[in-house]
Amino acid sequence: MKLTIPQFHKIYTDGKKIVAITAYDTLMGRIADNAGIDLILVGDSMGMTILGYKTTIPVTLDQSIHHTQAVVRGVERGLVIGDMPFLTFQISAEEALRNAGRFMQEAGADGVKLEGGSAMAPTVSRLVNCGIPVLGHIGLLPQKVLTAGGYRVHGRTSTEADALIDDALALQNAGAFGIVVEGVTEELGGMITEKLDIPTIGIGAGPHCDGQIQVAHDILGLFDEFVPKHTKRYAELGKEIHDVFRQYADDVTNQKFPG
Ligand code: KIV
Repeated sequence: MKLTIPQFHKIYTDGKKIVAITAYDTLMGRIADNAGIDLILVGDSMGMTILGYKTTIPVTLDQSIHHTQAVVRGVERGLVIGDMPFLTFQISAEEALRNAGRFMQEAGADGVKLEGGSAMAPTVSRLVNCGIPVLGHIGLLPQKVLTAGGYRVHGRTSTEADALIDDALALQNAGAFGIVVEGVTEELGGMITEKLDIPTIGIGAGPHCDGQIQVAHDILGLFDEFVPKHTKRYAELGKEIHDVFRQYADDVTNQKFPG
């Protein structure tokens, strides 16, 4: 049975850790769902992991909706969250609403995620007031990597830390049902978590967050071009797939397959 936002929130109020991961297609969505993952993000990380771009910036709304539709077809229980790509929510709250509406109506998503703190709070509020569940995202924002000076840890200075706490509170007040906290110090991850009544889902934000999210291709060992320091490679599937393809190629060449 599909998780509702209140049931998702209950995982948090019951004191259990929330488990989230990315998926971009039906197969991976189904496997994640069968493994009991609570939230499946159709992240714009797809730009780098499966579409061959150098950053997430070139990902379009149509691409994201196409992949969200695929994940939705594979998931029965977990929340499927569409990730709003670069410039699909920053221009105006009205444009954000129309674009978020496409994730809900055309893709069947359970909500959307968008990057940004206090500046995005009015937009989050507009979406939530129209009935769209919104997951916030603060800290390291991949869509701002060019202006932020690369993939660096945020919140090391007290000014930056205070601003991030304000961002988190603004998103909570705007009605976000949770917040992804990416690339901040362990201490700040804990402080933000402490101050909120909604769950924090950390990625490179230490163990004190209410849940964790990872890019599936990172923990599976499928994506080598950029390996974040915080990730744990549970497998080396890229190498295994390579070896299978190599054996298959040898068998065909040597006329061992078909037997
Ligand atoms: O796009 C993505 O995969 C994300 C996660 C890293 C949180 O935003």
